[in-house]
Amino acid sequence: MSDFLQKIEQVEQEARGRIAGAGGLEALEALRLEYLGRKGKITRVLHSLGSVSAGERPALGKRANQVKEAVSGLLDRRRGEMEQARLRDELSRHKVDVTLPGERPWSGSIHPLNQTLARINEVFFSMGFALAVGPEVEDDFHNFDALNTPADHPARDEHDTFYLEGGLLLRSHTSPVQVRYMQNNPPPVRIIAPGRVFRRDTSDASHSPVFHQVEGLYVDEHVAFGDLKYTLEQFARLMFGDEVRVRFRPSFFPFTEPSAEVDCLCVFCKGSGCSVCGQSGWIELLGCGMVHPNVFEAVGYDPERWTGFAFGMGIDRICMLLNDINDIRLLLESDVEFLSQF
Ligand code: PHE
Repeated sequence: MSDFLQKIEQVEQEARGRIAGAGGLEALEALRLEYLGRKGKITRVLHSLGSVSAGERPALGKRANQVKEAVSGLLDRRRGEMEQARLRDELSRHKVDVTLPGERPWSGSIHPLNQTLARINEVFFSMGFALAVGPEVEDDFHNFDALNTPADHPARDEHDTFYLEGGLLLRSHTSPVQVRYMQNNPPPVRIIAPGRVFRRDTSDASHSPVFHQVEGLYVDEHVAFGDLKYTLEQFARLMFGDEVRVRFRPSFFPFTEPSAEVDCLCVFCKGSGCSVCGQSGWIELLGCGMVHPNVFEAVGYDPERWTGFAFGMGIDRICMLLNDINDIRLLLESDVEFLSQF
């Protein structure tokens, strides 16, 4: 065997052995340089081809190239194996549990006041009432005078509100919506008017200078107090459940006569008396009454022909009752932790 052949076989043998025993990617890279680099062992053997006889050269050259290819292929295969092994190792060390739930995207929800209003609306819509809205900035006439509450009327004290320039004010109830509706629509009328209202009250657990009301108005011929009573009892049942108990208590409002206040048996103590109902066993739900003839006159309805009832309730109060909330201010501060419960 020629020296050349012996040399190339020996280099191949040696390279195969060392590649098989290489301990890592770096060692493998070093071997590639050692054998196939510019001054590598196989490269050098190939360079020495020039010194063999011209007759032997093709066969030896072919053999030498085969060795070069074989060693290069072997290096590539070992590198692939090592990279696979490293990946497997990495994966087994940082285990990923693909069955764990993902992170849920943040989602908003409907504010408890709006949830309560939606239920109130639903109850009255089911009884044939329609929705009416009006401005939050009002004038004396719509907020007071047309509602039989002239400037010197003592009932204005309870409705002290915020006064703006030009005789305007922030409405202290949504009754002015009813006035506006009657001015623009002939009877019969069956509406509810929800919205934000304002009073000059100091904030505490049950008072806020901003709160929310739904008022209702029913006008037709021959409307009786019995219609009012039935409608509001039905409302209480649909809102709080069949077992709810309500009572009507005589009261006073300038715009209704007779007037009443409706209480429901305290949902917390069932009537035995607790701190929520002030030991009375009853919770005030709303005010109501038969529309005063002066109101009909103020809006241009004939009080001899038309009769009607009206009522007004605080959405905040009902929302607190339904959800066991003990401070009205929680409903008006945008505390995400509180609101995310709903
Ligand atoms: N507007 C009254 C208030 O805010 C509530 C009410 C409305 C009472 C209709 C009777 C009839 O106090």
